[in-house]
Amino acid sequence: MRMALLGGSLRPESLNTRLLGHLETELEARGHEVSAFTGAALRLPLYEDGVAPSAEAQALHAALHAAQGLLIVSPEYNAGIPGHLKNVVDWLSTMGPSPWQGLPVLLCAASPGAFGGARGLVAWRATLANMGALAYPGAITVPHADQQLDARGVPTDPRTAAAVPKTLDGFLALAARLRS
Ligand code: FNR
Repeated sequence: MRMALLGGSLRPESLNTRLLGHLETELEARGHEVSAFTGAALRLPLYEDGVAPSAEAQALHAALHAAQGLLIVSPEYNAGIPGHLKNVVDWLSTMGPSPWQGLPVLLCAASPGAFGGARGLVAWRATLANMGALAYPGAITVPHADQQLDARGVPTDPRTAAAVPKTLDGFLALAARLRS
């Protein structure tokens, strides 16, 4: 399948970008075609009514349209969606036709905190539902990620490590049923 990945922070050392890299590797190992958007690709101008979308926003729009599924790997800022990612979502929701309608989405997060960014994913679910995207009921979260994510983005806690392929494969099976 064609899969898109979107996420991480604008920090070069982003834990979420590192986790995204591991998930990209896992998807490629399963034979999927992957388009990943991180770092500078997410640095869009602040959404403004009447302003034309940038080339970067158009590239994201095209990739989400072509994708049969999307992985969002999001930091949690103040129990919500970080501004740079919400800005991406807002741009893409104003560029017709909507790439979100019926798009299967797997939510993922990494945080140094004990909840692994899970509270931010609650906010993501409300936003995705508003746009008609289909958020998978499960999620991948990595708590204590400053200590429990290795240099390749692989969780070092055995339970978290075991949950990653299980959740990913469950999501991929659902995306295949919905979009193949
Ligand atoms: C945070 N962080 C944070 N962590 C968390 O678990 N819950 C939270 O509500 C917040 N809130 C928050 C707000 C702001 C403005 C910042 C800058 C940070 C900490 C955050 O999880 C941590 O910085 C991660 O390392 C950010 O992800 P990246 O940049 O490593 O991908």
